[in-house]
Amino acid sequence: ETDGLVDRFGRVARDLRVSITEKCSLRCTYCMPEEGLPPIARNDLLTPDEIARLVGIAARDLGVHDVRFTGGEPLMRADLAEILAKSSAVALGASISLTTNGIGLDKRIGELMAAGLTRVNISLDTVDRDHFARLTRRDRLPAVFAGIEAAKRAGLTPLKINAVLMRDTLAGATDLLAWALENRVRLRFIEQMPLDADEAWARDNMVDAAELLAVLGSRFTLTDPHREDPSAPAEEWLVDGGPATVGIIASVTRAFCETCDRTRLTAEGTVRSCLFGDDETDLRGLLRGGADDAEIADRWRAAMWGKQAGHGMASADFVRPVRSMGAIGG
Ligand code: GTP
Ligand code: 5AD
Ligand code: SF4
Repeated sequence: ETDGLVDRFGRVARDLRVSITEKCSLRCTYCMPEEGLPPIARNDLLTPDEIARLVGIAARDLGVHDVRFTGGEPLMRADLAEILAKSSAVALGASISLTTNGIGLDKRIGELMAAGLTRVNISLDTVDRDHFARLTRRDRLPAVFAGIEAAKRAGLTPLKINAVLMRDTLAGATDLLAWALENRVRLRFIEQMPLDADEAWARDNMVDAAELLAVLGSRFTLTDPHREDPSAPAEEWLVDGGPATVGIIASVTRAFCETCDRTRLTAEGTVRSCLFGDDETDLRGLLRGGADDAEIADRWRAAMWGKQAGHGMASADFVRPVRSMGAIGG
């Protein structure tokens, strides 16, 4: 390792999130428009070799310890196993994980684990089939359960479940937590951020962590909030004395930007220094133009040096980013 990904506020990025597609098998209203995102031209997408080249540079030259593949939905790429295998071969022991909706995971988990997959976070907002169908605009809850079961059987732990907070999620929150406890998965609730493609987000009617805690408190005793490490996005609460926990990612009301340790690559090969930062830096052009690793690493460092202080959602002049969540990958 030479110089890592440091920004002018002294934060160091060790966690790389790589979006590999804009496609998805669902259409969650907080993420995607009904018709899906505009398709990325095939030639604009990074290939498995290009992705692995960048992962290798990140791990070897830039001090990245954790690599997470996202989408859209990463399982939409037929060459996902190849991406994982080529990436883990050069990742120098960095963890290789997925954030996925779980659909189709059961059929592919063998090849993905053989390719180096170590962990998955699965998005699931409700265990009620009708609510799921409305929220995601697809009646696929059984397929998600199958994916979760497969991940558990394969021993991919800790298995985390992400639930985005909305009014309906809040109504089903105690049921979702009861389900998570019964199934021994780690549930985390996430405050919704203004990254929905439909631009329906409004601070006034957003469900926040405080409201969730009040609702969960009616059925469970939550104590001892703590973070696994200072840059972990979730605050974990012991449920009924533990050892089970429930996490809350309060990105809006308790922003964790000061300890942010993330760097992102988009599916088209640009560096995105912040979830909310639209000023992206192209690496694909360098890759395809024959640049060497040192040049690519330098461009990446420069991109991260300019990372913004935070998302600025509390500020009056906040402007939402052009890309929606489905195009960034969370
Ligand atoms: P772990 O390694 O399991 O902790 O993964 P993770 O929580 O970092 O990844 P995951 O993809 O499961 O992300 C969970 C949620 O955290 C996302 O859906 C986002 O809502 C939120 N999140 C992730 N990264 C950022 C970030 O850089 N800034 C903010 N504000 N929120 C983020
Ligand atoms: N706000 C917060 N989290 C979101 N996700 C998708 N859209 C949003 C949003 N607007 C979450 C998904 C998934 C991860 C990739 O991002 O639930 O867990
Ligand atoms: Fe697809 Fe995930 Fe977005 Fe839902 S949140 S539409 S599952 S990418």
